[in-house]
Amino acid sequence: MSKDFRIAPSILSADFSKLGQEIEDVIKSGTDLVHFDVMDNHYVPNLTIGPLVCDAIRELSHNVGALIDVHLMVEPVDRIIPDFAKAGADIITFHPEASKHIDRSLSMVRDLGCKSGLVFNPGTPLHYLEHVMDKVDMILLMSVNPGFGGQKFIPQTLEKAKQARAIIDAYTARTGREIWLEIDGGVNPDNIAEIAKAGVDTFVAGSAIFGKPSDTDANRYDTVVGKMRAALATV
Ligand code: DX5
Ligand code: ZN
Repeated sequence: MSKDFRIAPSILSADFSKLGQEIEDVIKSGTDLVHFDVMDNHYVPNLTIGPLVCDAIRELSHNVGALIDVHLMVEPVDRIIPDFAKAGADIITFHPEASKHIDRSLSMVRDLGCKSGLVFNPGTPLHYLEHVMDKVDMILLMSVNPGFGGQKFIPQTLEKAKQARAIIDAYTARTGREIWLEIDGGVNPDNIAEIAKAGVDTFVAGSAIFGKPSDTDANRYDTVVGKMRAALATV
């Protein structure tokens, strides 16, 4: 592998009746982060999981070496951030439109000991980053409109990824500090290499991983994660 790429399975598409086992299996198949999608039926038209579930999976996720990557699709964000920090979140990202005071929300995440990040919807410009780069550890680009797994990758996101990569590289050259660039929505073994070439280093994948398990494998996620790793190795 020429570069350090991270794969973040979105447990939104996992089998919730055996969530712990799903997380163990998918991390052992060669993935790195547990992507944890929090939806409130307000900021997005869907309702999912909260701090209680995060707390329930923290021990086993950390035992298998995975960071918990909490993606907040809720509005407002400040009330709930401490709950996730307490529940074991390692990274907390939120959408700038969902916070009235972006700088304050980012600081709050950091002060609680977590890595912080901003999430950009397909139609949201990157200019929100301009004055807060020092407080951002991860930039998450949505390649679908948030709310549901299983949607199609929006190809315009590739251009945006290149722009975000240029912003990050200029910042890192100036400060020496790294910022991860993550993409979320419609990622699969067929498009992951192209996305990596656009500068992305961290890949969320939900339905592509959990939707097509092969029961014949000793670990049912080895095949699809192996395909993703093989595609990334060509970059
Ligand atoms: C969408 C969520 C995603 C979603 C990705 O709002 O943020 O993390 O689970 O699912 P796939 O990979 O199926 O597009
Ligand atoms: Zn997500």
